[in-house]
Amino acid sequence: MARENDAMTGSKDGTPNAAEGAMQATAPVAAGDATGTAGTAIVNPATNGGASTNGGAANGSSPATAVSGARAADNYYGQEYIVRAKNIKKTFEVGGQPVHALRGVDIDIRRGEYISIMGPSGSGKSTLFNMIGGLDKPTEGTVFIDEVDMAQLDAFELAWLRCRKIGYIFQTFNLIPVMTALENITLPMIFAGASTDEQLEKGRKLLEQVGIGHRMHNKPSQLSGGQQQRVAIARSLANDPAIVLADEPTGNLDQKTGKEIIDLLKKLNKESGVTIITATHDDKMLDVSDRIVWVSDGRIDKIKRRDEVDITLGTLEGGVH
Ligand SMILES: Nc1ncnc2c1ncn2[C@@H]1O[C@H](COP(=O)(O)OP(=O)(O)OP(=O)(O)O)[C@@H](O)[C@H]1O
Ligand SMILES: [Mg+2]
Repeated sequence: MARENDAMTGSKDGTPNAAEGAMQATAPVAAGDATGTAGTAIVNPATNGGASTNGGAANGSSPATAVSGARAADNYYGQEYIVRAKNIKKTFEVGGQPVHALRGVDIDIRRGEYISIMGPSGSGKSTLFNMIGGLDKPTEGTVFIDEVDMAQLDAFELAWLRCRKIGYIFQTFNLIPVMTALENITLPMIFAGASTDEQLEKGRKLLEQVGIGHRMHNKPSQLSGGQQQRVAIARSLANDPAIVLADEPTGNLDQKTGKEIIDLLKKLNKESGVTIITATHDDKMLDVSDRIVWVSDGRIDKIKRRDEVDITLGTLEGGVH
């Protein structure tokens, strides 16, 4: 099939792998072929008291029946969930052999939530991210963003959604090396059609907000890792997205800088109400999360609210029951 996203992502499967990732918020994507609609079960821990799920399996409830009272009404009118993923499966083929990266994931994420996705290397976190972020398409299943079925969008509609609704943050920052911090941030605004004045004013404001207004004319190579990640965070917010997807945003940072970045993400989540979804191995991230999702071998093992988790640093991954 047409691979118009390849040039933008530098990747055969639409996944981020380089500085080109900076363009992803605006690039058309057409990865994946299947647009299956299988799957009817919704695991809905946010509305059933945060109960755990097993293997992303069905709990037998439809969206309408899994909720009650006022929340049911919210959900009915489509106000409640910014992301709904239904029975997401992703199978890659490597050397003629199938690799089942996701084996049926159901998750609903509420507007304004801070979600951490944990799991061992290779468990499917990034693959799930790529599905939610419209960077790749599931082999089977449906992802709704703001009640819009992403599989129904053409390349330009998808590009619009990615540009306006979703901000992306990566472990390796993925800034464009030849551009200054300010230019990196204004780039997505150019694609969204903002005027030069608007771009500069907002770019400066965002850099101030993330604490590096004084380095706006520096290029990435002149910035520390933590500063580069601040630029990437500011860039992710350039078009006032409803969702920020952060894949291991502290993975390349030391403990102290990582904590600063986590605190910054939480501050932005609280202040602007942006929904934050992170994949992480970093225990520090869990403390600021509303819910924590454990993924294992392409399935959701369990989902817990923060208040259900006794967090002792260094003991968490896979260790909470
Ligand atoms: N483009 C691809 N082609 C083939 N297999 C892939 C591809 N992308 C991911 N996989 C496989 O899918 C599985 C899930 O990978 P994924 O990158 O989602 O894991 P992850 O949980 O993000 O791991 P990590 O913590 O190391 O980042 C792995 O077995 C991986 O090898
Ligand atoms: Mg990953």
